Amino acid sequence: MKNTVIYPGTFDPITYGHLDIIERVASIFDTLILAVSCSSHKKTMFSVTERIQLIKEETKHLNNVIVKGFSGLTIDFAKDHNSNILIRSIRSILDFEYEHNMFNINNHLMNNLETIFFLPSPQLSFISSSGIKKIFKHGGDISSFIPKSVFIAFCKKK
Ligand code: COA
Repeated sequence: MKNTVIYPGTFDPITYGHLDIIERVASIFDTLILAVSCSSHKKTMFSVTERIQLIKEETKHLNNVIVKGFSGLTIDFAKDHNSNILIRSIRSILDFEYEHNMFNINNHLMNNLETIFFLPSPQLSFISSSGIKKIFKHGGDISSFIPKSVFIAFCKKK
């Protein structure tokens, strides 16, 4: 049970920031399940099918990473996959408040749940999916924040 961990997120879209965390987590645990939210409160640019496809493409070199869509509560997804460990990333004190609240709610709902927080590698600590979408919208260069397949997916949205 301890060796399967869940990294939930919207991943709209996956960035080098997420990949940094994914590669580090995959090197520590036996199995990493990336749980892609189908029902996020966020209005997404990419459909869940597109987001899953991009993540699969960018994680295909990691043979212990599984990508799945989910709706409903993250803790139910974790239970369904026999895991009690969530992975989240905190980039700054701004993320901390949000993550702390989510940690408390999740732990209230599932008391043997653990959340392990990763800090991003310093050069990636300012990347966010919405920041990249804003830069793209205004015609800026986003190629250094995302892998090529994601860049191509952005170009198709023009
Ligand atoms: N690298 C790059 N970006 C990072 C990052 C890193 N290391 N760490 C955080 N981020 C960014 C993401 O890019 C994203 O940016 P954005 O807001 O600009 O898009 C943001 O930080 C975090 O987004 P994400 O990881 O996708 O999480 P989320 O806040 O959208 O939450 C769920 C998604 C699925 C975890 C959450 O909505 C959830 O648990 N939903 C299910 C319902 C539930 O169980 N809720 C809890 C009880 S109420």
